Amino acid sequence: MKKGPLHTSLCDDLGIEHPIILAGMGMKGRATPPRLVAAVSEAGGLGVLGCSWLDGDEVRRRVRRVRELTDKPFGVDLLLPATMAEAMPDRAEMRARVKRDYPRHWEFVQSLREKFNLPPAEGKGGVMSAAFIRGQVDACLEERVPVFAAGLGDPSWVVPLARKVGMKVMGLVGTVRNAQRQVNAGVDYVIAQGYEAGGHTGKIATVALVPQVVDAVRPVPVLAAGGIADGRGLVAGLALGAVGAWVGTAFLLANECDIFAVHKDEIVRGSAEDFVVTRAYTGKTARDYRNDVIAAWESSGLSALPMPLQGVLMDEFVAAAEAADRADLINNPVGQIAGMLTKKRPAREILLSMVDEAVAVLGRLDSMHTVAARA
Ligand SMILES: Cc1cc2nc3c(=O)[nH]c(=O)nc-3n(C[C@H](O)[C@H](O)[C@H](O)COP(=O)(O)O)c2cc1C
Repeated sequence: MKKGPLHTSLCDDLGIEHPIILAGMGMKGRATPPRLVAAVSEAGGLGVLGCSWLDGDEVRRRVRRVRELTDKPFGVDLLLPATMAEAMPDRAEMRARVKRDYPRHWEFVQSLREKFNLPPAEGKGGVMSAAFIRGQVDACLEERVPVFAAGLGDPSWVVPLARKVGMKVMGLVGTVRNAQRQVNAGVDYVIAQGYEAGGHTGKIATVALVPQVVDAVRPVPVLAAGGIADGRGLVAGLALGAVGAWVGTAFLLANECDIFAVHKDEIVRGSAEDFVVTRAYTGKTARDYRNDVIAAWESSGLSALPMPLQGVLMDEFVAAAEAADRADLINNPVGQIAGMLTKKRPAREILLSMVDEAVAVLGRLDSMHTVAARA
């Protein structure tokens, strides 16, 4: 492994050249497909497959595909429930429960479908039973995936299994309290993700969160996430005490990223304030591109149901929008930093330009320091 110009302990530990990790992003496998993951790892970072909602066989297939494309290290990201007992039962059963217990919400979603002239479609959301999650994790263990990241939930039961196969475990958090929980669970890395991030997000901004997490969990290493899309952000993350950056939004415009073309265009045209926090699609606060569905929920007077019920409630609407080729009505999770992203380009270029710019920023800071010292 070559040593890059921004070498940190993360690079030694994971066997990578640059301290940049492609965040595992779900979206039914569209956001971080194997060719994007492999491109990031080939460029010297660490690619991570977002595999939430994909079953064990699909996780295995994607892992093997990455291995066909690169012999470099990579990872898998999954969403775990807070406890295995909270894992979701059968989705059809949940849908029936939501319809029975929340008739106003149910009717509102039917009216939403009619408002946008979408023919009915069957909801495609998967089941998140304990057996489903165990199947996903087993695929990672059996395939000896080098890095496992838990986007939500409690990874404590995964850690001892991961140790046995030499798999590193990362846990994503938005508060200091959750960072401490992840450390108690035994993770090797804490990912501190700030409010500005795309997808599910908390309330504390990256610049405030990262140093507090670094101090709270030392000596466990921390990755900075949320709003990092260029060399300036990368240097900032390192300055806050992180050993590397976990980057999502910046890679959504990669040529290798398979999100809907409409969603890429929304990113290109969006300003920072167009990426808003909503519970409309999943029930948990998530940052998405502002659209007519979010606006309709906001003016409905109804509050979204808690996760996972809201996702179940919205399943059929999302399936109907997809069948009618109306991706503009489907959630497009993107972070605030997208306000400055305009270019679709290869993942390698995104990653290497981040490294080059970070080196230039460090040079600039160093010359400021030298000039100040001479004065
Ligand atoms: C499209 C999208 C999908 C995401 N899906 C997941 C996911 O499935 N699991 C997860 O741990 N994080 C997910 N995230 C959050 C990312 O892992 C990461 O923390 C975030 O993108 C970092 O902030 P940034 O978007 O400003 O770079 C998602 C983010 C985006 C933008």
